[in-house]
Amino acid sequence: MEGYARLGFDILTYATVRSVARPPYALPNIVFVENRQHAAVALPGAASNGSSTLAVSTGTPSMDPEVWRKDVRRAKERLVRGQILMVSVAGTAPAGSDADALALDYARCATWAAEAGADAIEVHLACPGEGLGLGEMVFEDPKVAVHILSRIRAHVGRPVVAKLGAFRSPRLLHETLTQLAPWVQGFVLLHGIQRRVIDEEGRPVFEGKEREIVAVVGADTYPGCSRQVEEAVAWRKAGDWQRAILAVGGVITVERARQSLRDGADAVLVGTAALVDPLFASRLRGALQSAA
Ligand SMILES: Cc1cc2nc3c(=O)[nH]c(=O)nc-3n(C[C@H](O)[C@H](O)[C@H](O)COP(=O)(O)O)c2cc1C
Repeated sequence: MEGYARLGFDILTYATVRSVARPPYALPNIVFVENRQHAAVALPGAASNGSSTLAVSTGTPSMDPEVWRKDVRRAKERLVRGQILMVSVAGTAPAGSDADALALDYARCATWAAEAGADAIEVHLACPGEGLGLGEMVFEDPKVAVHILSRIRAHVGRPVVAKLGAFRSPRLLHETLTQLAPWVQGFVLLHGIQRRVIDEEGRPVFEGKEREIVAVVGADTYPGCSRQVEEAVAWRKAGDWQRAILAVGGVITVERARQSLRDGADAVLVGTAALVDPLFASRLRGALQSAA
């Protein structure tokens, strides 16, 4: 966090934390891919071959709360005026739990993150509803998502943003954002594109049934992600909710970041670019300043 803060990023998101320690999925859990028509196909070996598209199947691991709560505090101390520390939280509940148990667990993590110094809470809703057996991601069940966000709002006095995944239609995007808007200050769109990930022979790259479909992120996802950001901006203009839209997904060039801002996003977040091009923020800042 300190390194990226020094590199000039304004919004720093602490990777998702949970109320319990959770190990990551077995390696490999991050591979470079080429996003083809039928599936994302892993590139052989560990080399990127110039690709900036990744399949990420980590299982959303977390350090023990004792550890991350101290670490978040340390991260906050390393930021300077004007930089924002956002902490991403996910709920964890045992199988057979109800939505309230999951919501309370989300709220517990959010409270701990706020106590540790988070300036804002990013509620990770583009993940499975742990313990509920939803068979879909949390944001795809707006009733559950609203329940979680309302619990967080009741416990935490910090700005809250909801992180969402790819919607199946513009109408679903509109309906979900409208339902969630009263509970959040903004939306982070999009977490990634869910895809099957295989090797050149057609075999699954990640072991296990729950890892057949995983988030593909980075360069190749820009057309899909930016289209949904544009739709959200259009619905915002037309509708009665005024919430921040933080664009994410496939922004790996300064030009794409500027385009997303021109399209109406209030901020642009990067994942893959931060990994493959750590000087991204300072180059974007330079480009924005010379254009001003
Ligand atoms: C190595 C890696 C780890 C990630 N970990 C998390 C995480 O803990 N929580 C989360 O919500 N998203 C996580 N993401 C997804 C990013 O936050 C982001 O939504 C995604 O990478 C899309 O942005 P990009 O196309 O700029 O990479 C991770 C992405 C990468 C590449």
